[in-house]
Amino acid sequence: MSEYATIEVERRGRVGVVTLNRPEALNALNTQLMVEVTAAASELDQDEQIGCIVLTGSQKAFAAGADIKEMQSLSYMDAYRSDWFAAWDRLSAVRTPLVAAVSGYALGGGCELAMLCDVIIAAENAKFGQPEVKLGVIPGIGGTQRLTRAIGKAKAMEMCLTGRMMDVTEAERSGLVARVVAVDRLMEDALETAATIAGMSTPVTMMVKESVNRAYETTLSEGVRFERRVFHATFATEDQKEGMTAFTEKRAPSFTDR
Ligand code: CAA
Repeated sequence: MSEYATIEVERRGRVGVVTLNRPEALNALNTQLMVEVTAAASELDQDEQIGCIVLTGSQKAFAAGADIKEMQSLSYMDAYRSDWFAAWDRLSAVRTPLVAAVSGYALGGGCELAMLCDVIIAAENAKFGQPEVKLGVIPGIGGTQRLTRAIGKAKAMEMCLTGRMMDVTEAERSGLVARVVAVDRLMEDALETAATIAGMSTPVTMMVKESVNRAYETTLSEGVRFERRVFHATFATEDQKEGMTAFTEKRAPSFTDR
């Protein structure tokens, strides 16, 4: 694995862990961090030994947003010509399931980064928000779209218009996070969830991810049709035979990702 300056990357068995590491800026997402996170996630995605990726920050901040100091003097032409933030789209192309383990602030780009992941597990001190409006801009890594799909128009509109933060009780009630855990249990819980996912057949978890995400891209009948075709395709895998044979033989399955 390559050397990175703004993140730490480790492998724990079949789980890859990417930790944002710019404590001096509460993990603000500057260009270097964006390039490094997306490169590390792509590298882990290509690795057949990895079945799930955990993305996390520090106890105080998952990420306090895009780097305001870096963007402050940006001109329209700078932003347009460089297609500012477009590199984050590489993360949505990652096929391996992504778990966000969120502690502390997940604001602006930090909230958007969590929403780019497939499962969000939040510590009790987590705070989510899209405060861009207070800086005279709007979310730029999908916040107006993914937050609206995650929690509905009423709350997303209010949060994006006022910039207020949402605590974990409200975030869980609203459907933004999968589960809330104690601060000191966050990594243990996220790693356990990731190991459970990584213990399944990875081609099949990729198919699950692709099918659930399809719900956001198409009509119900097209989505169900897509799911049905992918379901049929699972019967081409050795892991389907193994999973169903193990069930009938009353033993744990041993998947080979084939
Ligand atoms: N960009 C750059 N630096 C940031 C930052 C950010 N988003 N968030 C925090 N920092 C820096 C602070 O400037 C400070 O640096 P210095 O010590 O050099 O002054 C350091 O991190 C610690 O921050 P604070 O002293 O502010 O810490 P706090 O505990 O008092 O407050 C906070 C924490 C409420 C999260 C506050 O830092 C804050 O409001 N941050 C900005 C949040 C925000 O507006 N995010 C949206 C950014 S825009 C965006 O994300 C666009 C998009 O759609 C992608």
